[in-house]
Amino acid sequence: MIGIARIEQESWHTVKTAGVGTYIGRKDLWSRGLGKHITLAILEMAFNHLNVERCEASSVEYNHRAHKVLELCGFKRSGMSRQAMFVNGRKWDDYHFDILREEYLKIRMDLLKQTLGEKLDEYIKRHCTIQQRE
Ligand SMILES: CC(C)(COP(=O)(O)OP(=O)(O)OC[C@H]1O[C@@H](n2cnc3c(N)ncnc32)[C@H](O)[C@@H]1OP(=O)(O)O)[C@@H](O)C(=O)NCCC(=O)NCCS
Repeated sequence: MIGIARIEQESWHTVKTAGVGTYIGRKDLWSRGLGKHITLAILEMAFNHLNVERCEASSVEYNHRAHKVLELCGFKRSGMSRQAMFVNGRKWDDYHFDILREEYLKIRMDLLKQTLGEKLDEYIKRHCTIQQRE
């Protein structure tokens, strides 16, 4: 085990949301591409299997690596909770990110291709139920 990936579902009337997060506990494994790989796997589960309409994540303002990974996977910064976190003796803003189902579907094939390469066709055949839009 190297860390935790989280998908937490909630519904507000008909809107299904998944709160997501990735936490790799071993620093020696950071910046090797695992975060992008795991975040993409989470998006596939959330949109392809759990059928949510949006995913959201948040991360403390100085965590530029986490923000980069979310943005590389299609998340957009949607706002912040000011001074909401206390780390290393001071308060920090908490940045919020989200991605909508239709936004994900537009970039999905490119992300999957980058991550899975030659294994993409096999993956689609085995696991995919949602259709790619033009
Ligand atoms: C955040 C986390 C999941 C990212 O996973 P990772 O495996 O390190 O990320 P990846 O290697 O897939 O991608 C990192 C990207 O950030 C970039 N990056 C690294 N340090 C950066 C920095 N200080 N500023 C901006 N970008 C940075 C890398 O260049 C890479 O982008 P690239 O592929 O375009 O080169 C991981 O570092 C982690 O678990 N950290 C501790 C827990 C945490 O902060 N979780 C997030 C809570 S929401």
